[in-house]
Amino acid sequence: MNEWNRTWDRKAGEGDMLSRAGRSRSGTAGLKASIDWVLASLDVSADDEVLDIGSGPGLISNELASYSKSVVALDRSHAMVKAGRIFHGKGAEFCWVVGDAHQLPFADRQFSRVLGYGVHQFMPSLRAFSESVSEIRRVLRPGGIAVLGANPDLELQENLIAKLQEENSSTDEMLRSLSDTLWMSRNTFVEICSENGLVAETFDIDRPAWYASYMFDAILRG
Ligand SMILES: C[S@@+](CC[C@H](N)C(=O)[O-])C[C@H]1O[C@@H](n2cnc3c(N)ncnc32)[C@H](O)[C@@H]1O
Repeated sequence: MNEWNRTWDRKAGEGDMLSRAGRSRSGTAGLKASIDWVLASLDVSADDEVLDIGSGPGLISNELASYSKSVVALDRSHAMVKAGRIFHGKGAEFCWVVGDAHQLPFADRQFSRVLGYGVHQFMPSLRAFSESVSEIRRVLRPGGIAVLGANPDLELQENLIAKLQEENSSTDEMLRSLSDTLWMSRNTFVEICSENGLVAETFDIDRPAWYASYMFDAILRG
């Protein structure tokens, strides 16, 4: 198991839901802004069957349920799924699954919308990221939309270094964000999506979030 997997298993049992989701630094305002952006970008409607990959404790999945037909919240961490089970979504069929983004336990074309927020950065290599995009493509219906939020931008890495120097309180975990997460240029991201049959558009993050200065968002279409 890699170090990040251990981190998420541990975080699943500590503190409030924001901290379990790794969202303490951006707080409630950051979470609300993420949710608003996801709802708009996924363009979710009452007919949609949604998969949330790397859902953490389900703070976004739970909101998606108010606007869609069904939501599956998937996370590789058993502990995270256990923590999240207090949420079960209002209005939609809602289901929790322990599973891995690289091998989604679902049928081809099962979903009309797929979300992965703050997840792909924890993949060990570009190859692993490509496998995960291939899986998104497989489970997404033609005409469907996938949103991958908060991806570390290789060309903005210096912004994180500057932030950590400014704060002068870099934790081991934040230092690991520099050395042990998947930093990608937007071009590489778009190419890997294209190789897997998805057209990706990337965006600056212009909402209040601690990571906004060094990450980008993306919308993928089949
Ligand atoms: C930063 S949290 C994000 C949680 C949630 N998406 C949010 O935005 O609030 C990252 C989550 O991704 C999960 N994760 C990391 N790698 C994964 C993988 N390969 N497959 C499924 N889940 C994964 C972790 O267990 C963790 O719960």
